Amino acid sequence: MQAKVVIVGSLNMDLVTRAPRLPRAGETLAGQSFVTVPGGKGANQAVAAARLGARVAMIGCVGEDAYGEQLRAALLAEGIDCQAVTSITGESTGVALIVVDDSSQNAIVIVAGGNGRVTSGVVERFDELLSGADVIICQLEVPMAAVGHVLKRGHELGKTVILNPAPASEPLPAQWYAWIDYLIPNESEASALTGLPVDSVATADAAATALLASGVSKVIVTLGEHGALFATRAHSQHFPAPRVKPIDTTAAGDTFVGGFAAALADGKSESDAIRFGQVAAALSVTRSGAQPSIPTFDEVQSYQP
Ligand code: RIB
Repeated sequence: MQAKVVIVGSLNMDLVTRAPRLPRAGETLAGQSFVTVPGGKGANQAVAAARLGARVAMIGCVGEDAYGEQLRAALLAEGIDCQAVTSITGESTGVALIVVDDSSQNAIVIVAGGNGRVTSGVVERFDELLSGADVIICQLEVPMAAVGHVLKRGHELGKTVILNPAPASEPLPAQWYAWIDYLIPNESEASALTGLPVDSVATADAAATALLASGVSKVIVTLGEHGALFATRAHSQHFPAPRVKPIDTTAAGDTFVGGFAAALADGKSESDAIRFGQVAAALSVTRSGAQPSIPTFDEVQSYQP
């Protein structure tokens, strides 16, 4: 039986434009292409965990509209349990307006829509999914009250609880830290959570030390092409990133989180799960779009540096 990963989080339709560079304030730029692509940090992590070997269920909300149906269909096509993907009458589905430039960097504006309607009450209706999970993952594209509820409940149930604090603009509620087994911020999120500058392995280590002092068990700071820093109270270790030519970094972090969770749930060691997530994320940046860029288990297994 495959291990079970449950994701509580966002589903967005990504409206993606490629342009030579990101626009400046007040500027109109001619784009090179436009596509709509299934995304949202929660849904991306669900797809990553499913393609990378886990049995997955998603808890989230969409509007009663065409985007909501398309996002649900995209998850169902991956074999993801969508019984807890709830349609909200009169609400629109979440969207993300994304510009990707020629150097593969992106800028994203999200409009929450149905994601803003994920409450503790919605999550409580699907408590049996949390009870049946091996690993539970949250991000911050749904309301904080719901995230806090899931972290606390996951901890009470003795599950492995992962928080990817994305996006983050301020420190987390102090009581959350004790409920989290793995906190997985990127550089800017680690900086927002700690107030420390994070732009290198050494500064990531300092931020991880501050987060560990707040009570979280383990921290993985993802550093893009510079790899990842894994830290516990006993030790820290840098994992260099596989070298690839990036096309689009959208959902690379989500692919890492989903891949790490799937590997961990499958019984891999933390080190092996980190390396597995890194290869998956590296492959994802060589392709365009959020969910379409996420590799399969076999692609990761057969990756040759
Ligand atoms: O992490 C990438 C995701 O962030 C995109 O798919 C977009 O929907 C935003 O939520």
